Amino acid sequence: MTYSALSHLECSRCGARHDADLVQGTCPCGSPLLARYDLGQVAVSPRDIAGRPPDLWRYHELLPVRTPGRVVSLGEGMTPLITLPRLGRALGVPNLLMKDEGLIPTGTFKARGAAVGVSRAAELGVSGVAMPTNGNAGAAWSLYAARAGLRSLVVMPAAAPAVTRAECAAAGAELYLVDGLIGDAGKLVAAAVARRPGYQDTSTLREPYRIEGKKTMGLEIAEQLGWRLPGVIVYPTGGGVGIIGIYKALRELRELGWVSGDLPRLVAVQAAGCAPIVRAFEAGATASEPWPDATTVAFGIMVPKALGDFLILEALYATGGTAVAVTDEALLSDQRAVARLEGSFICPEGAACVTAVRQLRESGWLAETDEVVVLNTGTGLIYPDTVSAAAPVLPPSGSIPPVPAPVPA
Ligand SMILES: Cc1ncc(COP(=O)(O)O)c(C=O)c1O
Ligand SMILES: [Zn+2]
Repeated sequence: MTYSALSHLECSRCGARHDADLVQGTCPCGSPLLARYDLGQVAVSPRDIAGRPPDLWRYHELLPVRTPGRVVSLGEGMTPLITLPRLGRALGVPNLLMKDEGLIPTGTFKARGAAVGVSRAAELGVSGVAMPTNGNAGAAWSLYAARAGLRSLVVMPAAAPAVTRAECAAAGAELYLVDGLIGDAGKLVAAAVARRPGYQDTSTLREPYRIEGKKTMGLEIAEQLGWRLPGVIVYPTGGGVGIIGIYKALRELRELGWVSGDLPRLVAVQAAGCAPIVRAFEAGATASEPWPDATTVAFGIMVPKALGDFLILEALYATGGTAVAVTDEALLSDQRAVARLEGSFICPEGAACVTAVRQLRESGWLAETDEVVVLNTGTGLIYPDTVSAAAPVLPPSGSIPPVPAPVPA
């Protein structure tokens, strides 16, 4: 059995077939290309997978890197799938689980896309990766590029989290800030790549392999539940690579016969200040309109127009899912609730999923019996300013008051 069962690339819109062993961007029709595998050739079983090292490369047959020696890894994957009993009870969803991507190299799930995308780019002979980013992906890609010995060019909005700039700088990336949004960064990157032989534009869904890394979140959820699927998966959606990837992964698993039955209902969560997918879903549309004047503290999901919007919407419609918008005020309050009740300091994007569960339970879309997995896509440590931490300053001669009353849940 070969290391990867990758067979070809397929256009997600027109279905055209493309060679997977050449450096590819989008289809000439402008749409993302998806990796396809010869699943009939996959001889491995879930039992074999269980004996492999605990990182995302345990699924290598379903990943695009052809040669084991080309894998660039920092140990990413197999993040915890933890129960949230106290929060779940408070929300009226006792079977609430969280896939915690805060415990992965670089601190966000972007490490998955970067590990697989950079490995495959290097295997295909690319010398530099170039990308627009809201911060976290740029940080992950520049660090994995450094490990692979590739150059990296990153352009991010000036308002992106400062720590992600520091990660890029530490990794030796060529870093630029733009006084605008991620779409403006994307235009600058595309123009630069056109003038730089050897560089690849690795923007969201403009190369085929980042999504392959992100789909491993779906593979892991299934494996961690004993090759069983939950009822609902709730995902903070910006460019949508994660949710499209999870949908792709679950369909591949069903085709392999490793899971059976209905797919989970997929829920795309967006910020009220930038909710193009929610608006499109509510209109029953198959594509979104650009969202004007986007704003939210959940910076990673601030994407006014996603290239893969039609794929996100397809995943929602096909699984009987939905799309939910949440306010910054509500998600920041839930960020604290998760830390207080469960001891986990999650990122604002992850907190948006908790607020979405709260709203969906209140509306009756979620039942008490539903098993719900929320994705926390990164650690709260990346966004220290989202929590105010006022504390009294004591003189050395001061004294600490008696034990305060517990904070109500
Ligand atoms: C922490 C975090 N969560 C979620 C997202 C949204 O990712 P996706 O492109 O998979 O929708 C991002 C993207 O930047 C992010 O940084
Ligand atoms: Zn096409």
